[in-house]
This record gives sequence, C-alpha cells and structure tokens, in this order.
Amino acid sequence: MSDYAALLKKKVRPDQLDAMVAAGLIDGPKAASPKLELVHDAGKPEAAFTFIDLFAGIGGLRLGFESIGGRCVFTSEWDKYSQKTYRANFPDDDHEINGDITKIEAADIPAHDVLLAGFPCQPFSIAGVSKKNSLNRPHGFEDKTQGTLFYDVARIIRHHRPAAFLLENVRNLVSHDKGRTFATIKDVLENDLGYRIKCRIVDGRSWVPQHRERIFIAGFREDSGFDFDAMPLPDKATAPRLGSILHPEDGSETPDQRFVVDNIGKVNQKYTLTNHLWTYLQNYAAKHKAAGNGFGFGLCGPDDVARTLSARYYKDGSEILIRQGDGVPRRLTPRECARLMGFDEARGASFTIPVSDTQAYRQFGNSVVVPVVKAVAEHMKGHILKAVRGQAPKAGVG
Ligand SMILES: C[S@@+](CC[C@H](N)C(=O)[O-])C[C@H]1O[C@@H](n2cnc3c(N)ncnc32)[C@H](O)[C@@H]1O
Repeated sequence: MSDYAALLKKKVRPDQLDAMVAAGLIDGPKAASPKLELVHDAGKPEAAFTFIDLFAGIGGLRLGFESIGGRCVFTSEWDKYSQKTYRANFPDDDHEINGDITKIEAADIPAHDVLLAGFPCQPFSIAGVSKKNSLNRPHGFEDKTQGTLFYDVARIIRHHRPAAFLLENVRNLVSHDKGRTFATIKDVLENDLGYRIKCRIVDGRSWVPQHRERIFIAGFREDSGFDFDAMPLPDKATAPRLGSILHPEDGSETPDQRFVVDNIGKVNQKYTLTNHLWTYLQNYAAKHKAAGNGFGFGLCGPDDVARTLSARYYKDGSEILIRQGDGVPRRLTPRECARLMGFDEARGASFTIPVSDTQAYRQFGNSVVVPVVKAVAEHMKGHILKAVRGQAPKAGVG
C-alpha cells in the first residue's frame, strides 16, 4: 500500500494528500489498471464500459446497464436467497458475489467506470456532526454518514472516482427524517466528493402496469451537461394494463406447473386467499374506512394498474389482489411479479426463479422496474461513453 493509501485510511483529506504529493512528500496514488485489460477479458465480447453492482438484490440495475453495453465486474449482496436468484440469472460471471459491503475494503473492489447502488435508506446522526463541529474539527462525509450504508457507497466513490454513478431509492428518501437524509446525501456527493448530480423521480407506470415511484440520483465526475428532466417517457396512452402480465388461463401460455395447472394453465388454487384471510382483510378495511383513513386492500382486474408491489407482499398480498369473479381473490404468482417488475416480458418467463414463493415476492418487492432502469441507462449512455472514451477508470488509490 502506498503512503497515499495509508494516509487516506487514516482519514487525511484527499485535497491535503494531493498537496503532499505536489510538495514531493509522498508518492501519488497507485495507477489504475489499464481499462483495456478490464474490458477485453479473454473469450468475452468487448464491453463499452465496466460497472459494479452494490446492494445488488436480484440484479435489476445490472440488467439496465448491461442493456447499454456495460459489463459487471463486481457484485455485493449479502442475502443468501437473493444471491441464489442472482447466480441463477447471471451464471457466466467471472466474479463471486461478495457479501456484506461494510466489510469490504474499497481497495479490494476493481476499478470501474460506473457504480450502481440501490442502498437501503437510514437516517444520519446529526448529533455526531454537531459535537465534532463544536470541537472545531474538520468533518468530511465520514462524520456525516458513519454507520449507514450510504457511507459505504460514498467511501467507494471517493476511492475509485468512477466516471458516473446511479443511485436508486424509494421516493420517500426526499422527505425522510424531515429532508435531512436527502440533504446530507446531496451535500456529500456534491461537496465532499465533487460530483455533478441530477435527480429524477420516475413512476414505473409508463412501462409496466404498476405505480412505483422511485428516485434516481445520477452523478458524473466531470460536468457533461447531463439533463435528467430531458429523459423521454413512453406515451401514457400506450401504458400497459394488468391483463398484459396476468396468466391468460386460456391455454395460450406454456404452462409452468409451479404457478398454473391443467392444460389451459389455470392459476394454482394455492394463490387464492384463504376465506379467513379474505374476511380479515375486508373487516380491517371497513374499520379503517369508517375511521376515515387507510386504503385497505387493492382489488384489481385486467384493466387496472396495480399499486406498488412491496417486499411484504408475501404476508397477505393485500396491496395487489386479483379479482376472481365473485369469489375470493388471489395473489399474483411470482411469475406475474417478474412481469410486473419488467424482469420478464409481458407474457415471458425467461427470468429464473429458483427460490420459494416467499423469497421471490420479497426479492421482486425490493427490486427495481427493469425497463425504467433501461430507460435511465439509455439516457445516461452518451454521457458515460464520452466520459470513459480513451480514459482509464480512475481508481484513486489502493
Ligand atoms: C432495496 S434492495 C436493492 C435491490 C436491487 N436494486 C435489485 O435490483 O434487486 C437492497 C439490497 O441490499 C442488500 N443489503 C443490505 N445491506 C447490505 C450489506 N451490508 N451488504 C450487502 N448487501 C446488503 C439487501 O439484502 C437487499 O437485497
């Protein structure tokens, strides 16, 4: 490890380190491995750029950036069931899935052009910052974000200085902890790390029959004039309805016996709610309606657009229940969830679901709408390629 890297670990600020290098007191950061070595791996097609997949889940962000020619060179996801789904769908990787990101040194992550992260959102401790402020100590992003998973995103960005990043989160990130969480994230990305960032809240509803609002934060190391608001949305008039992703139950679909039965592919009875649960949900909704609050359950048919699929869908499925005539409604099957999230085409079944229904619901409910990420990636593409063309990814130190 160079002196530079050792001092950086001791939390000496990068600008101070640069001054020490300029004064000839220490060596500069170790050079990044040449880009061509990374993107011309033997036997693999040439990639336009490299990226890393943090908080990878089942790889929704990855699918978007592969679709514009990127190659994933590092993955971190600690949940063993998500790892199983990820492995099953990206079987040709030449890298292992790494676990807990908080335990991984930035220097052990390969150089990359783009960083992707859909990190869990947690409040930052303001108390810690003000105490240090009052002691008149300089405080960088470490003090502002320590103990959160955003801290790990920030330290990896600081170390590798990728040309661009895309962070994804729930819409509520903006109002979380009275706006302080988002303000701190912006402050760290712009002021501590020196990136130009643009944010946009996008509803998956333009691509899939689901309302799902998520915030995307795109960052560029160099000012590239990226304009997130200019990203076009598909025509609302052609936005799909639930009927497009439901099992047709008319024999036109190749039946997958895990989800459907008979030769016409009727949805397996196990997805119909029990009478007990259906009565409970109706009573619960009536009680809350009488009290003037709550939405209760979301009952839908083929012409509707679903509410947001949540990670707790496996519990009672209440946010998206499918009408079955006058009978008891059913949940979506995991295959329908894969389509609702855009992992599969409307009638497709190519995404491998190697885990239990419970785990599959949790994984899709935690994930991103793939066509949304593809659209975001497509919009970032020109700026990413311009930034990486003829230039090695900047692996600051290590
Ligand atoms: C909101 S989900 C992101 C899903 C992902 N964007 C996708 O397309 O499926 C956050 C993920 O971070 C993972 N995670 C949380 N803490 C982690 C940690 N310390 N190290 C690695 N993964 C972690 C969770 O298991 C979860 O799958």
